[in-house]
Amino acid sequence: MSLLNIAAILSTMTASSSSSIQQSQHLISNMNHHNHNDLVDDLIGLNFRPNFHHYSGFLSALNDVYLHYWFFESQQNPLNDPLVLWLNGGPGCSSLVGALAENGPFRINSNLTVDYNPHTWNTNVNMLYIETPAQVGFSYKLDQNYQTNDNETAHMNLAALKSFYRKFPNFIQNDFYITGESYAGIFIPMLATLILDDHYPPNLKGFALGNPLLDQNININSQYFYLYSHGIIDEKIWLKLLQFCRCDHHHRNKKQPPSSSSSSSSVRNCNFITNKSPLCQQAINLLDIYMNSFDLNLYNINSDCKQESIHDELLLKNWKESSEKLNKLMISLPCAMDEHALTHWLNKKSVKKSLHVPSKFHWSFCNKVDYDRNETKSVRTEIERLIDSGINGLLYAGDLDVVCNFLGIQWFVDDLLLKESIDDNNKLRPMINHTYWKYNGQIGGFYKHYTTDGGSNLTFATIRGAGHSTAVDKPAETKYLFYKFLNQKNSDKFF
Ligand SMILES: *[C@@H]1O[C@H](CO)[C@@H](O)[C@H](O)[C@H]1NC(C)=O
Ligand SMILES: *[C@@H]1O[C@H](CO)[C@@H](O)[C@H](O)[C@H]1NC(C)=O
Ligand SMILES: *[C@@H]1O[C@H](CO)[C@@H](O)[C@H](O)[C@H]1NC(C)=O
Ligand SMILES: *[C@@H]1O[C@H](CO)[C@@H](O)[C@H](O)[C@H]1NC(C)=O
Ligand SMILES: *[C@@H]1O[C@H](CO)[C@@H](O)[C@H](O)[C@H]1NC(C)=O
Repeated sequence: MSLLNIAAILSTMTASSSSSIQQSQHLISNMNHHNHNDLVDDLIGLNFRPNFHHYSGFLSALNDVYLHYWFFESQQNPLNDPLVLWLNGGPGCSSLVGALAENGPFRINSNLTVDYNPHTWNTNVNMLYIETPAQVGFSYKLDQNYQTNDNETAHMNLAALKSFYRKFPNFIQNDFYITGESYAGIFIPMLATLILDDHYPPNLKGFALGNPLLDQNININSQYFYLYSHGIIDEKIWLKLLQFCRCDHHHRNKKQPPSSSSSSSSVRNCNFITNKSPLCQQAINLLDIYMNSFDLNLYNINSDCKQESIHDELLLKNWKESSEKLNKLMISLPCAMDEHALTHWLNKKSVKKSLHVPSKFHWSFCNKVDYDRNETKSVRTEIERLIDSGINGLLYAGDLDVVCNFLGIQWFVDDLLLKESIDDNNKLRPMINHTYWKYNGQIGGFYKHYTTDGGSNLTFATIRGAGHSTAVDKPAETKYLFYKFLNQKNSDKFF
């Protein structure tokens, strides 16, 4: 229905073959890892000597699911520093992309040697990366029935987390944060509320989501505004959309009281998604055809389209299949990040051996997973509950990403302010209205900061000049922002 439903590949990368995943029976069925069994001590190609321990292995989760993890201890004080879980999105993209191309300590060079990432997050926190759900990266399920959804993925992640604490019981005392990007914006708040239900782990302190998908409708509606405001949609098409798609009514958010309507907020209420009006549909179709006529890198509109990655026939086939399955027009083939070095390195026999992964396993950036997406999902209730529970939140976004654009995330946050709370203590109050933040003497981006009397803080921040994966484009700024988020409880202001 809507071209911009590229949320299907919501992560930096492209879909790629899952046929090679025969990861099953012969393995680790009899897992009895102790910490030291998972210790990685002989990784090849390292250009430096790590001053931290790291561990790789499998976490047993629901129903014979085994999720692969890689855990990097803090370089400072592992026993006291927070534990931070990082999850990539997709659904279907591997969190090892986070570890090896975004915020982890290793960077894979094209000659397959490994450099230290000076912007790694594990300087003062312990970083845990889990490949999820089963069928992603090295993760697998014994019966190979991989069909799953948001709810099961959240439960699977909780079970894997519990398995992690069984392997590393010392870390249960540490402050715990959940972080991730893109489609993980859906399953992380769901995981966090399951943690609240279970009171385990006990020290959940916050969540930080980068270019997250939070609400399917808001996200798609905001994409049109983003494209128009960035010179991609012609004024004529735009005016048609505004005219025919009922932008003068409150459709985006039924809870919104009419009193808050102003010319700008009524424009936000355009409904490009479920609008059945033939004239609106016509305008959207026009736009679909137009958007499909070129390859723009929608993950970072200032970045070139990495065409080499779409010459892969198998990849092309999978891409088409998944767009047909969703019955949606796709904007264009994905212009992926260069994934060759990472894929070659992780598929080396010696690397798999060091990571305690059976040599038969095949790793790819993103797999086409058998995932029932909920096309109307919003995590608003989950995030409201987290705020009500004294948990801090950071929603940040590279401002060059169309796929999960900052505008939709800002709308989502603005809507949270309208929440009806029985307990007045939990109402979000603006502490800092929209303003800039600086890094290294320059504007790092813009932000707003909210607090509740109950003690939660919620921050919305953009990262100027970054695309969908902010740690790829603006690694220093992203780390700076993340550590400000972690340290806010010890300071009287966020920046
Ligand atoms: C591999 O590439 C890295 C980064 O470009 C470079 O620093 C290193 O010297 C190269 N190593 C070899 C053996 O060519
Ligand atoms: C969510 O998933 C869990 C684990 O698979 C299952 O037990 C539960 O019934 C599911 N809940 C819903 C509402 O589908
Ligand atoms: C889909 O998401 C909506 C909104 O979050 C929720 O109310 C509904 O229960 C979800 N449907 C399924 C099948 O999970
Ligand atoms: C933020 O803006 C609101 C509404 O414009 C205003 O009432 C409030 O005083 C401002 N807060 C701060 C901290 O500047
Ligand atoms: C929220 O931020 C304020 C400073 O802005 C800080 O004093 C407080 O401790 C923070 N709350 C939590 C739960 O971190």
